Amino acid sequence: MMDSPRHPFLHGLSKHRGAPPTVVVIFGASGDLTARKLIPAVYNLAHDNLLPADFHLVGFGRKAIPDDEFRGLAAGAIREFSRRELDAGVWERVAARTTYVAGGYDERAAFDRLAAHIAAIERGLGRDLQCLFYISTPPSVFAPILTHLGASGLAARHVHGPLHSKVVIEKPFGRDLVSARGLNRVIGSVFEERQVYRIDHYLGKETVQDLLVQRFANAIFEPLWNRNYIDSVQITVAEDAGVAGRGGYYEQSGALRDMIQNHTMQLLALTAMEPPGSLDPEAIRDEKVKVLNAIQPLGTGPDGDVARAQYAAGMIGGGPVRGYLEEEGIEAGSATETYAALRLSINNWRWQGVPFYLRSGKRLARRVSEIAVNFRRPPGTLFAGETARFDLSGNTLSFQLQPDEGLSMILNTKVPGLETRTQPVKMSFRYATTFGSNTAEAYERLVLDAIVGDGTLFIRGDEAEASWRLYTPVLDAWAGAGRAGMDTYSAGSWGPLGAEALLARHSHVWRQP
Ligand code: NDP
Ligand code: BG6
Repeated sequence: MMDSPRHPFLHGLSKHRGAPPTVVVIFGASGDLTARKLIPAVYNLAHDNLLPADFHLVGFGRKAIPDDEFRGLAAGAIREFSRRELDAGVWERVAARTTYVAGGYDERAAFDRLAAHIAAIERGLGRDLQCLFYISTPPSVFAPILTHLGASGLAARHVHGPLHSKVVIEKPFGRDLVSARGLNRVIGSVFEERQVYRIDHYLGKETVQDLLVQRFANAIFEPLWNRNYIDSVQITVAEDAGVAGRGGYYEQSGALRDMIQNHTMQLLALTAMEPPGSLDPEAIRDEKVKVLNAIQPLGTGPDGDVARAQYAAGMIGGGPVRGYLEEEGIEAGSATETYAALRLSINNWRWQGVPFYLRSGKRLARRVSEIAVNFRRPPGTLFAGETARFDLSGNTLSFQLQPDEGLSMILNTKVPGLETRTQPVKMSFRYATTFGSNTAEAYERLVLDAIVGDGTLFIRGDEAEASWRLYTPVLDAWAGAGRAGMDTYSAGSWGPLGAEALLARHSHVWRQP
């Protein structure tokens, strides 16, 4: 039998051998994401020797920042945000190849300067580099940056060879179907789709990748993974944090745009998609798009499929916290939802009749993200009748994304003793216990994947559009209704009554994660 070709998803730890010489250019390099995630990711990849030998980092932004000052800022970011302490030896290697170019995102000459800067690095090395452009700015300047990458010739460098340019685009990818299509058009006018990496950092989380492995590397799940055995699926992305410091951004966004449309939909797509023919990125993304396109339009009227709410004052971690409307930067009478819950129906052979419930919110009881697959109850013929003796639960398989990444299964078990009594118990596997706790952060994986050209964990243009097609009518309905129908929930609770009612209408209850 012939060996199957080496695939980056399968051979992650040996990726550096295939990583081409690269310059990563970060647009928005003085920003929050760069400091909290991108610089620490680059540093940790360097620490693990996963970067190519010829690696350069170039920051780009409007502020004039001397190279040394940028290196100082980067070192400070590593000290503050990296999962590892700063190791002087590792950092010196990266710092020696870290520079900064100042310029406007809409200034053609600045992109010519950037091109000249990259050419000078290449001359110094005596070899060509692959350019990875990471757009980490507010979305208002995504289009000018893309356009100038095209006009300056940077996008088309080595376009037919292994060193072709790539672009990573941060969220939000549009704010509705029309704007997402518009952004896709701008991208498509400059880059070929194979050069484009739309990031959703949830796809870089360990448990999310493990979902593919659990589903398709174990024989026991797939035969049951359908409407015959699964009763419902619940996807929860709960945060205890509020919007403090990000009020301006959040007012333009809300829970549906910020979390549901992207992160939870990716979780749903990986949970519900058909087995792909291979681990090829396109094969996986084709299956994700198919299942996203099979989701039925959502009912937005009373007793429909959606619930939204804002947090009111309450208690988090034992202390009082303000309500959303009292947070800094929030408009009086704001109609921005901080919580959304939905019931999705997938109209295909595998899932017809199985509700997928999604919920996400700020200022909930605790930070926890999970996918819970609830199986149907067994026929109640044997252990039935005496509920005091036979405390039975449906089986639930749950993937805990964070914190405390792991997998658990609820099974009904005999309580030890002479009398037959049953009780649900939880069988758990924790990554930290089995593999140690210092696992790579999502951004490390994703930055490396973009460098080596593996798009598996990135979103394709048609995926983004499929999700916006579903949610744009909901956003329009909510915008039209203003605050009418907006529920509230106390900070520190598990959400509004409307979300309970949404499930109760279908004889379900939310699981306590
Ligand atoms: P920032 O608001 O920190 O902006 C990044 C940089 O962009 C700034 O340092 C500034 O650089 C430049 N910039 C800021 N405002 C403008 C403006 N109005 N016009 C032009 N340039 C501007 O953003 P973040 O770093 O928080 O986020 C960057 C991207 O990443 C966004 O798309 C965001 O949605 C996404 N993201 C962020 C996350 C986070 O945790 N921060 C999480 C997930 C995604 P300079 O002045 O030097 O040019
Ligand atoms: C971001 C959202 O995409 O994800 C934030 O913009 C949210 O509002 C964050 O807090 C949550 O990410 P994580 O990885 O901390 O769950």
